[in-house]
Amino acid sequence: MAKIIAGIGSSHVPAIGAALDNGKTEEPYWKRVFSGFEKSKEWMAKTKPDVAIVVYNDHASAFSVEMIPTFALGCAAEFPPADEGWGPRPVPVVKGHPALAAHIAQSVILDEFDLTIVNKMEVDHGLTVPMNLLFGQPKDAWPCPVIPLAVNVVMYPPPTGHRCYMLGKAIRKAVESYPEDLKVVIFGTGGLSHQISGPRAGLINSKWDKSFLDNLTKDPKKLTRIPHIDYMREAGAEGIEMVMWLIMRGALDDKIDEVYRFYTVPASNTAVGHIILENRRKAASKNKRAAAAKSRQAAARKAAHRIASKGR
Ligand code: DHB
Ligand code: FE
Repeated sequence: MAKIIAGIGSSHVPAIGAALDNGKTEEPYWKRVFSGFEKSKEWMAKTKPDVAIVVYNDHASAFSVEMIPTFALGCAAEFPPADEGWGPRPVPVVKGHPALAAHIAQSVILDEFDLTIVNKMEVDHGLTVPMNLLFGQPKDAWPCPVIPLAVNVVMYPPPTGHRCYMLGKAIRKAVESYPEDLKVVIFGTGGLSHQISGPRAGLINSKWDKSFLDNLTKDPKKLTRIPHIDYMREAGAEGIEMVMWLIMRGALDDKIDEVYRFYTVPASNTAVGHIILENRRKAASKNKRAAAAKSRQAAARKAAHRIASKGR
């Protein structure tokens, strides 16, 4: 059975990608940002997922204003990096997992989440920047296949936080009904607080961001009740990207372990937030526990017998 073992939240600021691509990672401004992801890269290298589901938003790269799917699941075999105005980023083509993606599509659509199936799609900084932050800068290939899930947060109306959270639960159910043993991680990307244009450009609200991260771990249901207008007012127009983190959170257990968090201000005009949440390993089943106790008793009896026979 496939299993979601952890969730990763990460900002996807395009300037982070530009800093990587232009060799600026050692500059003090960028070092501050990248240093927060060193432990995460180690965690990812140790975790070695078989598949990553990456929840992100397309920034008018693959979908223009002519067609805006609310939830679009990438079912293709590969997803090339998009040209966002400076040529495609020099990152490997993202390989998909068409079999698991098709299974997820079937399961969640039959669960009444009518998402769009995408069989050809380029992916922009929303997906490739978090990939770099967690997997580093591989030259030829990313270490695991990726299922992109593009969410509309660029044109009103985006989905509600509650809808996102419930979709996360449907995705979890889908993954857990896939027969192959696969370790799956799920990313929620975007945010944290930021406003890119208009009189409030540059808005950052660290208090809001911190409270969002705290509740993501402890009380995600509270976050599902936040209306769009509160994200806009408190976290800036682009702060609405944070609803995507609720898909990731919905796909995890109610009680999880926060194993890592990082927050820094700013990168470009944006607050950078990052979190790693692990599902707890299930306690051994009753039967397994009973069997383990029996074998411990047998070992103790044998040891006692050995000691007793030595003493004779
Ligand atoms: C910027 C763009 C984004 O998509 C984002 O999530 C954060 C920042 C930017 O243009 O600075
Ligand atoms: Fe964005």
